[in-house]
Amino acid sequence: MKKIVILISGRGTNMEAVVRAAAREGWPAEVRAVVSNRPDAAGLGFAAANDIETAVVDHRQYADRAAFDRALAAAIDQFAPDLVVLAGFMRVLTDGFVNHYAGRMLNIHPSLLPCFPGLRTHQQALDAGVRVHGASVHFVTPTLDHGPVVAQAAVPVMAGDDAAALAKRVLAAEHVIYPRAVRWFVEGRLAIDGERVVLTPPEPQWLFADIAGEGV
Ligand code: GAR
Repeated sequence: MKKIVILISGRGTNMEAVVRAAAREGWPAEVRAVVSNRPDAAGLGFAAANDIETAVVDHRQYADRAAFDRALAAAIDQFAPDLVVLAGFMRVLTDGFVNHYAGRMLNIHPSLLPCFPGLRTHQQALDAGVRVHGASVHFVTPTLDHGPVVAQAAVPVMAGDDAAALAKRVLAAEHVIYPRAVRWFVEGRLAIDGERVVLTPPEPQWLFADIAGEGV
């Protein structure tokens, strides 16, 4: 069984989607722990209710990023994970931390990377006027919101969307592609070839949200 540790900062719906899919689909993997940098993260409740160990490493208790990242790595490594899953984990990580988990840490970012790295991605997409938006699962590398893309989901931007409406549509797609990507990892099907992630045997590493449009 592969061991997974999931990092969250808030409500943790992506974490929940991964935990539920692992149980439902009988993955060769176990979510060993959920770690939060915020003691009040709502997702901790779901994890505890599902008999998953939880830990809090509160970033406010540490003098700097390096000290926080050392404590975070110590909390994670006691579970000896094969894979670290960032699921709405909202701290910028040091290069040392990222390199420690090279090739075994995934993140989901709410945009079609390389568009719109950083925060407020849905507002960025609306401001840019794009007609298609989405989410990306990628391996984490030292450059923020970069790294080889495992899967992407595209959703339409609808007339009248505000950031909240768009975020909701993207989140529903995140809940599909993130469990799928994590499953591919624990099944040993992912290889990194430069900037590209090769899935063996191949299957679609993309999802187009099933919303009927004109002219399809
Ligand atoms: C998700 O939309 C995720 O893509 C985003 O935060 C949300 C967390 O929701 N992550 C980032 O912005 C990372 N920079 P969740 O806690 O319900 O999974």
